[in-house]
Amino acid sequence: MKRIAVYPGSFDPITKGHEDLIHRSLEFVDQLIVAVAVNVSKQPLFSLDERVALIKAAVSDERVDVRSFEGLLAEFAKTVGAAVIVRGLRAVSDFEYEFQMALMNRNLAPKIETVFLVPAFDLTYLSSSLVREVARFGGDVSPLVHPAVQKALKRKFAK
Ligand code: PNS
Repeated sequence: MKRIAVYPGSFDPITKGHEDLIHRSLEFVDQLIVAVAVNVSKQPLFSLDERVALIKAAVSDERVDVRSFEGLLAEFAKTVGAAVIVRGLRAVSDFEYEFQMALMNRNLAPKIETVFLVPAFDLTYLSSSLVREVARFGGDVSPLVHPAVQKALKRKFAK
């Protein structure tokens, strides 16, 4: 049986930290569905279609599928037959929210396990919000994101 995992997030935009977790996940799953959330509480910088397209540009592996989802993650994960939800843990500050979310998702989908992955050490400080901020003020984000994302950020903030 194929082991399917869902890697959910806002991906606004995808960073090298996300890419790192995608590659780590592929060490233990057969198919990874990168699930881009439609409803994020903050107004995203990139539209849903842009976020999906940037992930597809940054990751090319036939075992990775990029989809968007609306509503509950647990329901989406059940619909696609996932056994695992992958989330990244960078620092202690991530823990409380992630812990709550994992338990709530278990409540909603008891058969699906949340698995936490730690990114490469040199990427632990990285977040989409920091990348947006650095790019907004003209800083160099080339070590932090795929070139397609760098280009898209340049276009966004040139306006
Ligand atoms: O990249 P993010 O913003 O940390 O991702 C958060 C996300 C999108 C994974 C989370 O907010 C989510 O799962 N939203 C979907 C709605 C949902 O299921 N909420 C209850 C989670 S307990």
